[in-house]
Amino acid sequence: DWTMPGYIDEAVARIREQVGSDEVILGLSGGVDSSVAAALIHRAIGDQLTCVFVDNGLLRLNEAEQVMQTFARNLGVRVIHVDATAQFMGHLQGVSDPEAKRKIIGREFVEVFQVEAQKLPAARWLAQGTIYPDVIESAGGKTKKAHTIKSHHNVGGLPETLKLKLLEPLRELFKDEVRELGVALGLAHEMVYRHPFPGPGLGVRILGEVKKEFADLLRRADAIFIDELRAADWYDKTSQAFAVFLPVKSVGVMGDGRTYEYVVALRAVETQDFMTARWAELPHSLLGKVSNRIINEVRGINRVVYDISGKPPATIEWE
Ligand code: XMP
Repeated sequence: DWTMPGYIDEAVARIREQVGSDEVILGLSGGVDSSVAAALIHRAIGDQLTCVFVDNGLLRLNEAEQVMQTFARNLGVRVIHVDATAQFMGHLQGVSDPEAKRKIIGREFVEVFQVEAQKLPAARWLAQGTIYPDVIESAGGKTKKAHTIKSHHNVGGLPETLKLKLLEPLRELFKDEVRELGVALGLAHEMVYRHPFPGPGLGVRILGEVKKEFADLLRRADAIFIDELRAADWYDKTSQAFAVFLPVKSVGVMGDGRTYEYVVALRAVETQDFMTARWAELPHSLLGKVSNRIINEVRGINRVVYDISGKPPATIEWE
């Protein structure tokens, strides 16, 4: 009979056998897959694992603190936290083409990761949170087409340039099994059942040029939306929900004066496979509350709109 504790013992034994006394390096993103991979590998080999967490300045509100809290402080994992915000923002300056932005964010990630990896010359393995659906996709399954439409953030070339062997302990698991494993390893339910977040982060949710000022506004608006969704018990009923920053100013009124500020769009969808999606029919009262809070609490935003487009023809992200 298959049981989770039995599975963990087996997976731990397999990792120990595979890596022996070697050192392992892992890029921790804060997402479910790399988080569960880190927790599992740490369970197996403790301090032989070093995680590198790159803050690209495009993460959600308090995300870096949460990752450090969970892994470094609670689980005792060795985590190198690199704040590369300035580097990413510098390279993104003046760039508004979505595909160009994605390429820069992917390239800079590899740059930063390589610099950190070179500081760990004893590392022989690169661990990744690859899960079974990723394996099928990269083998050329029928979902591959979706990936050629836009370049996905990945670290495909890293093992070769770093001369590392790949350690992928989640390769045989489906997403729901990865989540169960994460909970069994002691990760918080909230982290393990979080909505997916794209590799390029807020870079694909700030239309046009990415600026730190825009990312700061968007982070706060997004956090309010997610807070209210959770409070209203709607978070788990949606597959993905987030705010988008539109670099468009419109006129508003505040007190006796006029404002001329930016727009935030809210997006919430229900989907099984993320290939097609329906917009979530959130209660108007909930949308109203989110809108009021964002406009009152985030100076710089004076208008909030709700996206009622399905995929297709729209995509889930705006870019
Ligand atoms: P779209 O916008 O194409 O998104 O409908 C479908 C799903 O893919 C996610 N997404 C990404 N995930 N790296 C990722 O890991 C990426 O570069 C990326 N781009 C989009 C998106 O959030 C949605 O869940």
